[in-house]
Amino acid sequence: MFIKNVLLVGFLVVALAGCRSDKGCRGILVNKCSSCHGLSTSCAKVGEGYGRWLGIIDAMNTLHADVSEKERKVLAKCLSEPSAVTDDICR
Ligand code: HEC
Repeated sequence: MFIKNVLLVGFLVVALAGCRSDKGCRGILVNKCSSCHGLSTSCAKVGEGYGRWLGIIDAMNTLHADVSEKERKVLAKCLSEPSAVTDDICR
């Protein structure tokens, strides 16, 4: 039982660390989207919809935001719906 709990806690720590890593929504936004304008520009559009976000990110890429295909999808998904993550980034 004790071992099981240790494993569970270990798993949760790893999972949470993953969410907070640079490859997550916040990391991508801070690294790739906050050099030309503040995060508030992106925060103002949270909830715009997945397809709309893909388009916005495409437009940013033409300005050399340099977002990879994978990051583009992570970001569009994250920003298309308000969540604890976007609240945390945008408050
Ligand atoms: C190279 C500079 C640059 C980078 C990097 C950049 N942007 Fe922008 N962004 C702009 C400029 C300039 C505008 C205003 C002109 C425009 O709307 O095209 C803008 C406008 C926007 C807007 C408003 C668009 C609208 O339709 O009202 C959003 C949202 C946005 N950026 C999000 C992002 C996100 C998310 C990233 C990261 C993936 C990012 N930007 C990275 C330069 C940049």
